[in-house]
Amino acid sequence: MNVQKFIFDKEEVSINDGETSWKSPSNIALVKYWGKIGEQIPANPSISFTLNNCHTITTLKYKKAESLSFKVFVEGKREESFEPKIEKFLNRIKKYCSFIDYYAFEIHTQNTFPHSSGIASSASGLSALALCITSIEKTLDHSITEEYFKEKASFLARLGSGSACRSVYPELVVWGKNKSFENSSDLVAVPFDGAHNVFKDFQDTILLVDKGQKVVSSTVGHNLMHHHPFAKQRFEQAHQNLEKLKEALVSGDLKTFTAIVESEALTLHAMMMTSDPYFILMKPNTLKIIEEVWDYRKKHNLNLTITLDAGANVHLLYPKSEEKYAMNLINSSLIQFCENKSYICDEVGSGSEEI
Ligand code: PMV
Repeated sequence: MNVQKFIFDKEEVSINDGETSWKSPSNIALVKYWGKIGEQIPANPSISFTLNNCHTITTLKYKKAESLSFKVFVEGKREESFEPKIEKFLNRIKKYCSFIDYYAFEIHTQNTFPHSSGIASSASGLSALALCITSIEKTLDHSITEEYFKEKASFLARLGSGSACRSVYPELVVWGKNKSFENSSDLVAVPFDGAHNVFKDFQDTILLVDKGQKVVSSTVGHNLMHHHPFAKQRFEQAHQNLEKLKEALVSGDLKTFTAIVESEALTLHAMMMTSDPYFILMKPNTLKIIEEVWDYRKKHNLNLTITLDAGANVHLLYPKSEEKYAMNLINSSLIQFCENKSYICDEVGSGSEEI
């Protein structure tokens, strides 16, 4: 696959104004993307569950103008602090969507999860915006196929925030070239639809340990992989883990699933702790939750699995059939380690949707 494929090449921009709305979910990586090269090319491949309840709804209003301009509104209120990131994104995608130069935009966005939950909104937010922009492209070029539409949206979303490219597709999604996934690519995410039924309705309860702003952003963390002493081994390990995880996903082998997913979460944080400068995003309560989950899992012979993203919150993953056990553990014990006793119940979802 070549970036040329994603260049919009129509001369004429015939539509004067309009609006488009998309809902796009967050996602949680099972094999983690950590480290990038050049313009948002992943240093290693990753795979994620697309979530359902944690999502962003974005309406993009556009009007013909002399040049590109935009305003961001969050829950109806102008939010100028979001604008530098969006400006960077729009400037980056211009060479693939030259039509944006002819419009003044209003970006209206809202999340279903609270801003101060410590859950990154970049995956859902940037994928929703990328889908809206691709919708404009479709109104300007009717020849676009359904397949190309999603590919282009994933391509654009990646340029905003790497992991956002996976949110375009449902259920399980791979991003980054890997030999076990034939059509995988560094430029766009691709859906993986060969998984066992047990993963179709997997649950993710997000235990909100720390709702504050992260001390180190993921952009800084990715960059620290450039001179990381273990980078080479880590990138190779991610390839191997992805290949092993694929087999477990196909066969429904939950024990292997747990072993790989938990090792990936701890490796991600080990990379942070061994960066120069080093940093720690886990909190004491993150570790308390992990210990409790491991004890309870052993005692009841369950498949409750923890994973982490670049923060202190714990994602508790489990098959739907173990929901009662999971909720019992959460409400009788884990809740004490969550800020204001808060958690979010989510599950594997069906991906982005035009609304
Ligand atoms: O997409 P970014 O740049 O916010 O990086 C996401 C990194 C992790 O969430 C830690 C891992 C992943 O693959 O989503």
